[in-house]
Amino acid sequence: MTAVLVTGGAGYIGSHTCKALRRAGFDPVAYDNLARGNAEAVQWGVLERGELADGSRLRDALARHRVAAVIHFAALAYVDESNDDPPLYYRNNVGGTAALLGAMREADVGTLVFSSSCAVYGAPKTVPIAEDCAIAPINPYGATKAVCEAMLQQCATAFALNFVAMRYFNAAGADPDGEIGECHEPETHALPRLLDVAAGRAESFAINGDDYPTADGTCERDYVHVTDLAEAHVAALRALLGGAESGAFNLGAGRGASVRVLVETVREVTGRDVAVTVGPRRPGDPPVLVADIARARAKLGWQPRYSDLRTQVAHAWAWQQGAGRHWQRMQARTPA
Ligand SMILES: NC(=O)c1ccc[n+]([C@@H]2O[C@H](COP(=O)([O-])OP(=O)(O)OC[C@H]3O[C@@H](n4cnc5c(N)ncnc54)[C@H](O)[C@@H]3O)[C@@H](O)[C@H]2O)c1
Repeated sequence: MTAVLVTGGAGYIGSHTCKALRRAGFDPVAYDNLARGNAEAVQWGVLERGELADGSRLRDALARHRVAAVIHFAALAYVDESNDDPPLYYRNNVGGTAALLGAMREADVGTLVFSSSCAVYGAPKTVPIAEDCAIAPINPYGATKAVCEAMLQQCATAFALNFVAMRYFNAAGADPDGEIGECHEPETHALPRLLDVAAGRAESFAINGDDYPTADGTCERDYVHVTDLAEAHVAALRALLGGAESGAFNLGAGRGASVRVLVETVREVTGRDVAVTVGPRRPGDPPVLVADIARARAKLGWQPRYSDLRTQVAHAWAWQQGAGRHWQRMQARTPA
């Protein structure tokens, strides 16, 4: 089996991608410091516990497992935290990616799938957003992703590197088999926080502004199922290993859902009451972010299978009511 190093493989999207890789006949090796991930999520390959910044540890893992390609998820990914502490984000996300690229060059591994983000686009004036939209991040988190993409371009001209940058919109949902799902502490994403309210673990969900120029006044986001993301990574990896050129791809459902629509869908799927409060707008939140996914469809043959909103909510709820409860209890006992 072809070995693939998956940095951040104990995290939310990384663990789902390890499962998809194993299903597709690859041998995933999760490389994670467990700062934000869960060891329980590493079920389809070994866990190499290590720091991205540790070049010699990375080189050792690349050589020992005879790694043919890398999928790079490991990053800090909270916008508010990045606003509070930009150096932390540059050190971890940019410094870590530089260490990884150096180790790949030395180990002669020239294939990389990189987790970028729609945050590189900032607040575009037109939607849906295509890949040729201007790169104009509006927070340090998005800026670190943009710098990493530029670094990848520069490395691809400096040495033998072929890469794709995957610009995800809002990852949501959980493994359709209920084996893994989203489990962060603290949780910042809207859907798991809404489900916490539905489950009685939180009192209410705060809507940040209902006076945006959208149909119901709340922000619209493009939610894409985590298993669809995982399958896109497998498709991109196969394309690169088959000789495809470097490039960037948007990954979303290709349609938006407002915060109020998300709340209603959670109420319908869970059958529970979900209390909401409405607060002021959060600075830097664009009204609408929706992906144009034509390029990923055409060039990767990718088709989202689970990304209708109801399915994403149903899978996340099933996970939270099942194995996710056990993970949450473990996290509560393990101080960060
Ligand atoms: N979740 C989303 O909606 C979303 C959207 C756009 C982009 N992304 C990107 O996708 C990637 C994965 O996101 P996620 O939601 O799965 O996050 P996550 O926090 O669940 O996973 C990230 C993993 O990386 C590990 N990690 C972080 N820094 C590390 C370091 N220095 N060394 C080793 N391991 C380290 C963490 O322990 C964690 O397990 C990130 O790069 C994120 O920026 C996520």
